[in-house]
Amino acid sequence: MKVIPKKINLKDGRNLTLRSATPGDAENLLRHLRITHAESYKNLNQSTAYWQEFTTIEEEKILAGFESASEKFMLVAVYDGRIVGGLGFWGYQSEFVKRSAGIGMSIQKEFCGSGLGTEMMYFMINQAKQMGFHRIDLTVRTYNEAGIKLYEKVGFERVGLLKDAAFIDEEYVNEYSYQKILD
Ligand SMILES: CC(C)(COP(=O)(O)OP(=O)(O)OC[C@H]1O[C@@H](n2cnc3c(N)ncnc32)[C@H](O)[C@@H]1OP(=O)(O)O)[C@@H](O)C(=O)NCCC(=O)NCCS
Repeated sequence: MKVIPKKINLKDGRNLTLRSATPGDAENLLRHLRITHAESYKNLNQSTAYWQEFTTIEEEKILAGFESASEKFMLVAVYDGRIVGGLGFWGYQSEFVKRSAGIGMSIQKEFCGSGLGTEMMYFMINQAKQMGFHRIDLTVRTYNEAGIKLYEKVGFERVGLLKDAAFIDEEYVNEYSYQKILD
């Protein structure tokens, strides 16, 4: 689905727009994913090589799917025409879990620590409420201090430890499981 765009001012004075990605953003978003996965792959779920090989046409199809579905959206943060942050939100589809949703996000290092993550999370939470969701869940690696700080700041509660949840650079790493029940 398409969210209503919002202009935001970061604490360092930079102005960005939060909006839905459209199929026309495929190349811009791929560039963002290649950058963030090169910078932060240990916090994410794919290698840089995966995104290097991903084609614009494949990405266009994924973004068209996000745009046309009623239970998911792809939020991007745009600075000076460049996508510098992305947050995917997907409602679960099976009958008994369709009031729950999952998310994943990445921000380029030059924008980390600027409050952008906080802005994107609050935007996503408000949007999820408007869409009628009751619960959001996510996982974060146990060493990802910025992610943990951000999720707890916006009201996510740690509900578990997922042992050996990912295998990265020849070793297993643990993740925390978080959830937020929406008012
Ligand atoms: C995790 C991530 C989304 C956080 O976004 P961000 O824009 O840096 O977050 P914010 O600037 O809004 O900061 C949120 C809080 O975390 C704190 N924080 C930010 N970076 C931190 C760090 N490296 N260590 C500890 N705390 C940190 C901030 O101080 C802020 O708390 P405060 O408002 O009480 O001061 C971003 O760092 C990122 O995309 N990293 C790479 C990919 C990734 O980890 N994705 C998430 C996978 S689960």
